[in-house]
Amino acid sequence: MMGKIRLILSLLSFGLLFAPFTLYADGHEGASVQHIKPETCKQCHEEIYNQWSGSMHANSSALKDPIHGAFYKNVMGDPKKEDLRNKKGKYPVCLKCHAPVAAMEKKTKLDAKPAYANGISCVVCHSFKAFKGPDNAKTGKPQYGIDAYEIDKKSLHGPSGVTYTTERVPEGSKWPTPVHHPQPMQGNKAALFKSNDACMGCHEKRDNSKGAPLCRTGNEYREAKNFVACQACHMAIVTVPKLDKGNVVPGKFVSVADHSMAGGHDGKMITRGISLTMDTKKSGDKLKADVTVRNRLPHAYPTGAPFRNFYLKVAVYDKGGKELWKNYKTHPIKDDKKSAFWYTLGDETGKPTAPPVATKVLADTRLKPNESRTVKYDIPLPKGAHIVRAEALYDLLLPPIKAQMKGKLPGDLLRPKLAASAEIRL
Ligand code: HEC
Ligand code: HEC
Ligand code: HEC
Ligand code: HEC
Ligand code: HEC
Repeated sequence: MMGKIRLILSLLSFGLLFAPFTLYADGHEGASVQHIKPETCKQCHEEIYNQWSGSMHANSSALKDPIHGAFYKNVMGDPKKEDLRNKKGKYPVCLKCHAPVAAMEKKTKLDAKPAYANGISCVVCHSFKAFKGPDNAKTGKPQYGIDAYEIDKKSLHGPSGVTYTTERVPEGSKWPTPVHHPQPMQGNKAALFKSNDACMGCHEKRDNSKGAPLCRTGNEYREAKNFVACQACHMAIVTVPKLDKGNVVPGKFVSVADHSMAGGHDGKMITRGISLTMDTKKSGDKLKADVTVRNRLPHAYPTGAPFRNFYLKVAVYDKGGKELWKNYKTHPIKDDKKSAFWYTLGDETGKPTAPPVATKVLADTRLKPNESRTVKYDIPLPKGAHIVRAEALYDLLLPPIKAQMKGKLPGDLLRPKLAASAEIRL
């Protein structure tokens, strides 16, 4: 009887100590850290978890990102099908960056395991052990996403220079006692985690199968000869209210490296990269306006996916805000090219095409790193003209792609966002 009670008691205390800290998640096969759910990390890194869960990294798989999902279905096929292959019979390369755990396990049915659908979760980045580089040292061939990293299946890694142990450590213990971490963790990877290497496996230049460069953030950055790491902007240190199981702890704050890693999807982040000024001079019944846009970043503005773009809208309004004139009819890409900042992929005949079938870059009018460009406008001043306003409007997708995606994507992803503006009142 006593023995039984003691057993129950010891089970209870064991349970209490370890209850919220399950070492490996959801009874998966093997003990790869890759299947530890982000919710496990949330128990102690709740603020970081919240930032990450709203990021495009948490939503990068074809099951979660509607834009990527639509392209993936077009180019590859059904993300819920096993053994999916491209037209040449090859494994879908997209998964190496967009659904890395599925790629590590050579699977394509993304709803089979939470870790596949979760995209780039905590354990994907934090199991990087070394950066092999964007190209294979021997063959010179590109290695995309997780192929660019040495991945540790047994331990996590971080940059802080701390020694960790999975053993329990006495309450209140200090250095030289190692810090307790429920999953194996090595904190000596500053060179990797505090440099671009932590990002470049997936964000480096990438060509399509015909050799046309699709994403060029890596090249852009190198051409800018900058040395500020991506993290300085994309993982700035932010001070946020301390959270405890979803509740704000009053008066307590924590400073963390911001894991929201915002970009084109973030209406505020896009305003950080660009400045816009307007100089005007009246000449007769016209107004001459010089609109200057400057890129304040060490990569192009916009950077990333080839269909990111922005355009200038210069318009005249009356006192009530009614539009009397503007610089284009349908879209600057069609009828005011100097006001469009975009990346044009196409074929040998010079015809613009979709990214997967393009053979070359036809034009690139996006702002280069630190570039300042002045666009001149001759603005008629109709009767009642009161306000002249210039706006830089950012779009995730180009007009022809938008037209195809209408009804298939949430409206918010199709609407241009205001990145910068200037106005004068006459
Ligand atoms: C896209 C890659 C990536 C993902 C995904 C990611 N991290 Fe990080 N994490 C980093 C990098 C890079 C650093 C180092 C930042 C620095 O010090 O400059 C870091 C730092 C940290 C730190 C150190 C503390 C700090 O504030 O600097 C913690 C803790 C952490 N991450 C936890 C998490 C958790 C928990 C998740 C998931 C909810 C997560 N990370 C997802 C890349 C990532
Ligand atoms: C039981 C609480 C707990 C859980 C669960 C937990 N951590 Fe931690 N973690 C800590 C503590 C404590 C530290 C050390 C102090 C700090 O940086 O906050 C730490 C540090 C880290 C660091 C910084 C490493 C360094 O020194 O560079 C990273 C990265 C990290 N954790 C990631 C994760 C990830 C990913 C998960 C989920 C797989 C996770 N943690 C789960 C408590 C926890
Ligand atoms: C394992 C691959 C991988 C790694 C490593 C990675 N990323 Fe990403 N990142 C992606 C993918 C894939 C997307 C696009 C997700 C989508 O939109 O579907 C993305 C999106 C982004 C975005 C754009 C968000 C938006 O609004 O469109 C930013 C900014 C970003 N990552 C920054 C970083 C930084 C900074 C690092 C390094 C600390 C990093 N990433 C590391 C794969 C990665
Ligand atoms: C000086 C700050 C700064 C630095 C350094 C920086 N970025 Fe950015 N990045 C931004 C801003 C602001 C934006 C939003 C405007 C835009 O999309 O160009 C952005 C946008 C992005 C996007 C979003 C593209 C999309 O499709 O939405 C990606 C990806 C990205 N950066 C990756 C990187 C990588 C990788 C590095 C390091 C090589 C880096 N950035 C360095 C500020 C910075
Ligand atoms: C080398 C890594 C990598 C590979 C391989 C890759 N992508 Fe991406 N993809 C990214 C990154 C990083 C971003 C986000 C930042 C940017 O715009 O560059 C992104 C963004 C996208 C976006 C924009 C998503 C959005 O929310 O706006 C689409 C669409 C996309 N990828 C489709 C694909 C398809 C389809 C494939 C396979 C044919 C593929 N990608 C392969 C890294 C990759």
